[in-house]
Amino acid sequence: MDNLRKDFPFLKNNPELAYFDNAATSLKPQQVIDEVSYYYEHLGANIHRGDYKLSHKVSGLFDQTRIDVACFINADSNEVVFTSGASESLNLVAMGFASQALSKGDVILLNETEHASNLLPWYALAQQFDFVIEFIETDEHGEIQVDNLKKALHDKVKLVSIAHASNVLGYIRDIQTMSHLVHENQAYLVVDGAQTVGHIEVDVKALDVDFFAFSAHKMLGPTGVGVLYGKAELLKQTQPIFFGGGSNVDFDTKGTMTLKEAPYKFESGTPNIEGVLGFRKAIEYYNEKGISTIESLNSQLYEYAYLHLSKLDNVVIYNPNSDLSIISFNVKGIFAQDVAQYLDSFDIAVRTGEHCAKAFDPTMKKSKTIRASLLFYNTKEEVDRLVEALRDITLEKCIDLYI
Ligand code: ALA
Repeated sequence: MDNLRKDFPFLKNNPELAYFDNAATSLKPQQVIDEVSYYYEHLGANIHRGDYKLSHKVSGLFDQTRIDVACFINADSNEVVFTSGASESLNLVAMGFASQALSKGDVILLNETEHASNLLPWYALAQQFDFVIEFIETDEHGEIQVDNLKKALHDKVKLVSIAHASNVLGYIRDIQTMSHLVHENQAYLVVDGAQTVGHIEVDVKALDVDFFAFSAHKMLGPTGVGVLYGKAELLKQTQPIFFGGGSNVDFDTKGTMTLKEAPYKFESGTPNIEGVLGFRKAIEYYNEKGISTIESLNSQLYEYAYLHLSKLDNVVIYNPNSDLSIISFNVKGIFAQDVAQYLDSFDIAVRTGEHCAKAFDPTMKKSKTIRASLLFYNTKEEVDRLVEALRDITLEKCIDLYI
C-alpha cells in the first residue's frame, strides 16, 4: 500500500501539525476536494429541476451517490435519505417517525454515554408527546453490554437509540445481538453510526437496524452531508420534518399536497449538491483502498499509541482496548484543557472536554478528558511526539504558557 498521506493536501499544507482530532472531523483526500471544486467550476446547475444537459448530468451524479452509499452499507437506494449530518438524521427519526409510531407513556431507552445528537432530540420529543425516557445502565467500564440492555428492556419500551460506538470510548457495541433483543421486545432500534462508518464494515441488513444515522465529514467526505438509512417500510411511515420544493408531486391553494415517495419526500429544497458529489469520491476512496485495509492501518496505529501512552506514569487512560482509534485520557494533576494548550504549543491537536457527551463522565469525577483520535494517515512519528510531550509535561510548564 502506498503512503496514503500524499492523498491529503491538508497534511502537505500543515507539515508541522499532528492532527489527532479525527473523531471530530476527518481530513479530506484530494479526490473529494477536487470533486467539490469541479462542481462549482464545471457543473454548477441544480438537480432534478432543469431541462438541460448540465442539470441532467448533475442529477445523475447525485443519484449515483445514493446508489454508492447504499452499496457501501448494504441498503437499497430508496432507503438512503440525504440530510445535513447525523444530527439531522436522528432528529428526523425522532420527530418524523417516533412521534407517529409511539404513544403517550411509551418508553424510549437511551444511555448516558451518548452524544448530544442522540439524546437531545429524544428529550425534546418526550417533552412534546409525553413519552418516557429511561437509561440503560453502563457497566464498570462505562460501556453498554448486551446484558445491560437486557436488564433495561420491558414491555413499555418501544424504541431504543444507541451509538454503534461512543465518540468518547470507541468500543463497538454488539448491535446485531441488541437488535434481536429489541425486536423481540416489539421495539424499534435506532443506531447512531457517526463514529463507525468508514472505520469498520457496516452492513445495515446484517445488523438488522431499523434506522442508522451517519455523517460524511467523519469519513473523508465534505461537511454538511449526512445519511439516514431507514428500512423501506418504516420510511414509508415517517413524516418529513421539512417541506418545500423537490419533495412534492403536487399541491394547490386548498392546502392539499401530495408528497413523493421516500427518500425524496424528506429532501426539500436545494441540497448540498457539491457535498454529496464529494461524498461519492470519499466512498470511492474507501472502495479503492479497501475498508479492511483502512481498519487494519487504524488499529496498528492505535495499538502503537496505546502501548506507549499506557507506559507513562502520569497518564490515565479511560478506554483501554478501544475498538476505534480513540484514546481518552487525562494527565494526573493537570486540567485537560491546559494539557491541550500545552500539546498545541507542540503543534499537536487533540480535543478536550465532554466531547458533546455531557451526560457521561468516564472519569467518574465530573472532570473533563483529553481525546486523541487517530486515523490511518497519522504516523508513528506523530504518536512519538505526543508521547514525548506528555512525558515532559508539568503543571508549571502549562502555567508558563499563559504568562
Ligand atoms: N461528534 C464530534 C466529536 O466527537 C464533533 O468530536
